[in-house]
Amino acid sequence: MTRPFDQVAVVGAGTLGAQIALLSAYAGYQVMLYDTRPGIFKETIMTIRSDLQSKNVDPFIPYAQWPACEERIQSVNNLAEAVGAAELVVEVVPENLGLKQQVFQELGRKAPSHAILATNSSSIPVSRLEASSGRPERCLNIHFYMPLRGMNIADVMGGTRTVPEVLDTGIRWVRSLGVIPLTVKKELLGFCFNRVWRAIKREVLHMWAEGFVDFRDIDRAYMVFTGNREDAGPFGLMDRVGLDVVYDIEMVYYKESGDPKDHPPEALRQKVAQGELGVKTGKGFYTYPDPEYLRAGFLDPQR
Ligand SMILES: NC(=O)c1ccc[n+]([C@@H]2O[C@H](COP(=O)([O-])OP(=O)(O)OC[C@H]3O[C@@H](n4cnc5c(N)ncnc54)[C@H](O)[C@@H]3O)[C@@H](O)[C@H]2O)c1
Repeated sequence: MTRPFDQVAVVGAGTLGAQIALLSAYAGYQVMLYDTRPGIFKETIMTIRSDLQSKNVDPFIPYAQWPACEERIQSVNNLAEAVGAAELVVEVVPENLGLKQQVFQELGRKAPSHAILATNSSSIPVSRLEASSGRPERCLNIHFYMPLRGMNIADVMGGTRTVPEVLDTGIRWVRSLGVIPLTVKKELLGFCFNRVWRAIKREVLHMWAEGFVDFRDIDRAYMVFTGNREDAGPFGLMDRVGLDVVYDIEMVYYKESGDPKDHPPEALRQKVAQGELGVKTGKGFYTYPDPEYLRAGFLDPQR
């Protein structure tokens, strides 16, 4: 697959930023990486690797290629240096509207005027960020899932003034990474598949928090129903995403609708306050690196 340009900058090197950077390096792009926490990239890569290995998942990029990809990524401690020659900048900072607007404002000043600015936000339409950048016609949403686990899909959506050439370049970049673009034709909160996943999350979180069912039974059913018995159900998946990230995303939906049914449950907030963030802290709904859903007997009717 041909590359539509050469230089990518990734801003934020946590769970998703680290994967987007690695994937871009694997596809042959020159990658600059910036995070306010120096050293977080290597830490994140180690966490992702041990999570994949503990579950015997074959990663999207073979392990043997990881060191070469990591070497091709240049981590810097200065945003201007990271984005100074970028043709595409992907913002992957926490799910907070004010923070993302601030980052888009800085990117508008520091990235070359022709650079495309993409947000990996899970819930914020780029129409809420584009004005801060001063170049709304070159902004779009590109929302990845967990590419290193083989979830090679990404929602792609423009803002109010995104020009067709920018959407097209974004889609070509996604394809060049070996990822399937899911194009959204007009602005929709939650984009394409993420809106479906969000509906599942909202429902199961309330079923758990209000004491209707044991969360493990929802995961059991989901694993059997989808035929994906080797992987997690919604609660295991939320542990992988990070419960802090899930909470922030649900709050964005709540602020958008004002509907109390959209507010994330208090029990989820308590887990976050206690540092139970999922895989990244070793405990969420399950404990890691050996979660119950991967143990023998989890799906045994006689257990
Ligand atoms: N975790 C997931 O499964 C997932 C999936 C799809 C999309 N997303 C989205 O990706 C974004 C990031 O999520 P994540 O899970 O990678 O979060 P994360 O907390 O793992 O990583 C965020 C990183 O951003 C850094 N950061 C904070 N402020 C910054 C700034 N001003 N400049 C540069 N770096 C800064 C943090 O130090 C951290 O390393 C969010 O918008 C989230 O909704 C997450």
